[in-house]
Amino acid sequence: MILPIALEERSYDVVIEPGCLARAGELLHLHRRALIVTDSGVPQAYAEAVAAQCDNPTVVTIPMGERSKNLDTWTLLLQTMLDHRFTRSDCVIAVGGGVVGDLAGFAASAYMRGVDFYNIPTTVLSQVDSSIGGKTGVDFSGVKNIVGAFYQPKRVLIDPQTLATLAPRQIRNGLAEAIKMAACFDKDLFSRLELSGPAVPTAVVIEGALAVKKQVVEQDERERGLRKALNFGHTLGHGIESLGLDLYHGECVSLGMLPMCSDAVRPRLRAVLQAFGLPVTCSFDVNAAYEAIVHDKKSDASGVDVVMVEQLGSFQIRHVPTRSLLEKLEQIREDAI
Ligand code: GLY
Repeated sequence: MILPIALEERSYDVVIEPGCLARAGELLHLHRRALIVTDSGVPQAYAEAVAAQCDNPTVVTIPMGERSKNLDTWTLLLQTMLDHRFTRSDCVIAVGGGVVGDLAGFAASAYMRGVDFYNIPTTVLSQVDSSIGGKTGVDFSGVKNIVGAFYQPKRVLIDPQTLATLAPRQIRNGLAEAIKMAACFDKDLFSRLELSGPAVPTAVVIEGALAVKKQVVEQDERERGLRKALNFGHTLGHGIESLGLDLYHGECVSLGMLPMCSDAVRPRLRAVLQAFGLPVTCSFDVNAAYEAIVHDKKSDASGVDVVMVEQLGSFQIRHVPTRSLLEKLEQIREDAI
């Protein structure tokens, strides 16, 4: 299946096909230098399979995890391209999850003011969300994703077979982002998740989420309005994530969505999250999470924009006083006690 993303001269195709990683040589233009970026948590065989299809590959494997998403790693990628005499006609390929895609895409955006970027996401999270839409960047000075660029890939290859090597918790982690999209944009997909729970095939959830992502990115590439809804659950979620607890990004988003729902939506969303094995309560330092949200440059003196879901399949953006988030964080913690 091919999902076209229509963005005028920045348009590209998302190829969704079992085994397409092994066909990268046919599907991408690889007769040139290629920097392949992967991480230590991704089976090395994936990057090797892509490298074997390139005329002139250089593979960089970064340590897995959010800690690699910084300017030092970004500099390493740029230095590697320079050392290997990359020109503006060469390309960068991400093989891995969201951290790898964000970093590699940002390096591609900057080297010689932009070289071609291909993304081969290998986690549910990156396949349903982060690989599409051109958000690239790094964390800086303790603030997530604060330095970066909108830089669309030239093509995205989604090979569902790569999910076979993921731990079940990693799969659940990515499904949280798909549940988020269903809650904000697709009440039919939400009902399906509600009725059948994890019995819904992962491929169906991925395709449903990608259909949402396509619509959103095509209408609001630069996040002026509609795309902000994809941050549902992320304001509180990032606050909790910054505490360095043993929680994945999607698990923090799961926690962060519940206080941002109406009383009618909350029990239904909680039931779906629980059915998919995602956390709905957590013990944590509310004040520390709040300080992290305040430190995040997305809030200003007058308050912060948050996404609320009052009816499933729709959303509202509300500007709320930052202090009101303390109470929302408390709700997540209180329920855990
Ligand atoms: N992951 C949220 C977005 O692409 O806007």
